Amino acid sequence: MNLIKFSNFYYRYKGNEEYALKDINLEITNNKFILLAGETGSGKTSLIRCMNGLIPQFYSGYYKGAVVINGKDTNKTPISELSTEIGIVFQNPENQLVAMNVEHEIVFGMENLGFPKEKIHQKMEEVIRLTEIEKILNKAPFEISGGEQQRVAIASVLVLDPKIIILDEPTANLDPLFANKILQLLKKIQKERNITIIISEHRMDLIFPLIDEIILIDKGEIISHDSKLNVVNSLEFKNLQINKPRIYSIFNELKQRKLYNDEIPFSIEKGIQLLKTLI
Ligand SMILES: Nc1ncnc2c1ncn2[C@@H]1O[C@H](COP(=O)(O)OP(=O)(O)O)[C@@H](O)[C@H]1O
Ligand SMILES: [Mg+2]
Repeated sequence: MNLIKFSNFYYRYKGNEEYALKDINLEITNNKFILLAGETGSGKTSLIRCMNGLIPQFYSGYYKGAVVINGKDTNKTPISELSTEIGIVFQNPENQLVAMNVEHEIVFGMENLGFPKEKIHQKMEEVIRLTEIEKILNKAPFEISGGEQQRVAIASVLVLDPKIIILDEPTANLDPLFANKILQLLKKIQKERNITIIISEHRMDLIFPLIDEIILIDKGEIISHDSKLNVVNSLEFKNLQINKPRIYSIFNELKQRKLYNDEIPFSIEKGIQLLKTLI
């Protein structure tokens, strides 16, 4: 079954004449790491807001069509109930962190949903270990770094065991080293839990080795949803003003010049190793 299904979905923010999302048809299955790519203003954040019911329940406006998350219609299911199916981490986690300290932040969602004490305890232990936040449990959200805030935001959605986690530009305010750590953590979570992760991310060099598929959105329309190789090779992708994976471009160029004829590496590390053997 599809975890996420958009059918002929349109959405226009209140007061806007233009549709932010147009004729969206999208099916997302289990156990995938998916990049949501598109230029600034193309509709990535709006698409994400539809996936946990914020659109149309919180953002008013005009919509038609349907979005169904694991069998639940996002227009008819309370947002709190949808949050057990799908966890969302936004770009600025400080707006998302509401509790007095990190520990409370993580327990908060489970208490709200009435989880038994035993289960809360067990889940806490599990995600604290996975996201490596043992040392900051007693700190307030404003006392920790941006990277730590992202980890806490990830931990607080993970405890609810969602089948899907969505992240909207999670590394935008982090330096490359911390950004890479967060992305590697997400890959580990995705693999260990066999869940689907959808991420909007501009750091193409870092994210490209990790993903399976790419959803390409342009001017509110999905113009491609395919394996990363098919999308990267498409004209649509080449023509958009978005970062391209550099290692892929270099090896593609080498191939065209007949200086290389093997498989194209996805990560910078692999690419560098291969380049050394070519010199
Ligand atoms: N809260 C909002 N109210 C009105 N218009 C919005 C709102 N959020 C986004 N938009 C508009 O919707 C379109 C898509 O924006 P957005 O989904 O934020 O794109 P992206 O995340 O790809 O940059 C833009 O034209 C933007 O101005
Ligand atoms: Mg956005």
